[in-house]
Amino acid sequence: MQRDLNSIPRHVAIVMDGNGRWAKKRFMPRFFGHKQGVDALVRCVQACSDRGIQYLTVFAFSSENWKRPEEEITGLLGLVLVAVSKYLTKLAEKGVRIRIVGDRSAVTDKVRLAWDEAERTTAHNSGIVLSVAFNYGGRWDVVQACRQLVAQGLPAEQIDEARLSSHMALAHAPDPDLFIRTGGEVRISNFLLWQVAYSELYFTDCLWPDFDEAQLDAALAAFAGRERRFGDVKARLPQAAAPGG
Ligand code: FPP
Repeated sequence: MQRDLNSIPRHVAIVMDGNGRWAKKRFMPRFFGHKQGVDALVRCVQACSDRGIQYLTVFAFSSENWKRPEEEITGLLGLVLVAVSKYLTKLAEKGVRIRIVGDRSAVTDKVRLAWDEAERTTAHNSGIVLSVAFNYGGRWDVVQACRQLVAQGLPAEQIDEARLSSHMALAHAPDPDLFIRTGGEVRISNFLLWQVAYSELYFTDCLWPDFDEAQLDAALAAFAGRERRFGDVKARLPQAAAPGG
């Protein structure tokens, strides 16, 4: 597909919502929707990589998801192990670099080891960076970054935006250019609160397991049509030169 590279976001962040409704429509348990959601994610990684997107960050499990029924939580944690054993080799061969962002202290040892393996196996890859937010919350991220600065004994006057950013979970990536949420809800839901300050927001009714290349292209077309000003009143900035990615 021919595409103007200037209009391609460097970093796309996605709230993958709608798995449960997707399954319900098919009279299937919610877990089935999450399972299909993993397959949709793997397809999306490939599609983003094919289009020249350099960073993809997805919300797989929020700090608030612990409030879900125990059975669903166990299913989602188990799905991590299934996803890593089913797809890690394939993603690694394609050059994908996997990073996990979030509080790992609360997940089971098995899940922690699976995430460690995913990061270790892909650490030297140079393709698209897939950051999976797991047990993540935007507010948690701000607090943990502040705690790191305090633990270092940094004087208040030395704390600025750049220094705080460098201690946040996504310090390895530029701020997202495009934030996509599937599933029809129009909210951020505590995802990347700090980093989405100037992201373009795109909401679609499409349920996550149905999010395919055509859906991605629709989001990218909407992004290409946006005027990014970053608080400035002047005319359109070229996308590739825009600060923060
Ligand atoms: C929201 O759908 C989705 C989640 C809470 C989980 C998202 C997880 C995946 C797509 C799987 C990725 C997993 C790994 C291991 C990378 P929902 O359950 O809120 O759906 P609903 O709004 O229709 O109820």
